[in-house]
Amino acid sequence: HPKTDFSGKNILVTAGPTREALDPIRFLSNHSTGKMGYALAAAAQSRGADVHLVTGPTCLADPAGVKITKVVSALEMHDAVLKAYPQVDIVIKTAAVADYRPKEQAAQKIKKKAGELTLVLERNPDILWELGQAKKNQFLVGFAAETDNLIGYAQEKMREKNLDLVVANNVAEEGAGFGGTTNIVTMITRAGQIIKLPQMTKLETAHAILDQIRMLANYR
Ligand code: C5P
Repeated sequence: HPKTDFSGKNILVTAGPTREALDPIRFLSNHSTGKMGYALAAAAQSRGADVHLVTGPTCLADPAGVKITKVVSALEMHDAVLKAYPQVDIVIKTAAVADYRPKEQAAQKIKKKAGELTLVLERNPDILWELGQAKKNQFLVGFAAETDNLIGYAQEKMREKNLDLVVANNVAEEGAGFGGTTNIVTMITRAGQIIKLPQMTKLETAHAILDQIRMLANYR
């Protein structure tokens, strides 16, 4: 990769899970580790981009040379991303944002009692959908983690969220998805091209995704 093929480009990457608090001790979350998003941030930085990483809680080291905003909940990620959005050229939304949050956040620890406990959840905003609606010249990349009908759901997501590229991975497949060091992704373009990448490290996958973005968005 030419070292500077993204120089002058502002890239916003989101990564990791979000945590939705139930009380001061507990939260709802998911298995995202942030590795794919951090790899994308590092790869873009190494190719000359100005990178802003908005990340949920992870165990990963801060990538060098990248502006980092650490958030916890989906609502916090929403605010950080929308604030940065007007200034960016490319958004890559790798984060596994929680779709729901507990409707009530108890101020004190919820104590156990006999019998069942019912939680009421309310919808979080779909951050990427909002970006799609407010899109001016930004190139929008969404991720799709699915266990079935990968291409079908990805194409639906592209339309509903007004995206330019969807990166889909089957989290049920060995060597793909949450936690591991490798991924197996299929990229779906707005023009309907379907590009299946082989199993690669997440850093190699990140560079291949950036190659595709550069081609589609015609950055030289
Ligand atoms: O619809 P689905 O959640 O499968 O779409 C996944 C894509 O949408 C990811 O790029 C994710 O970061 C983004 N998303 C979001 N806000 C949500 C849910 C998903 O930005 N509340």
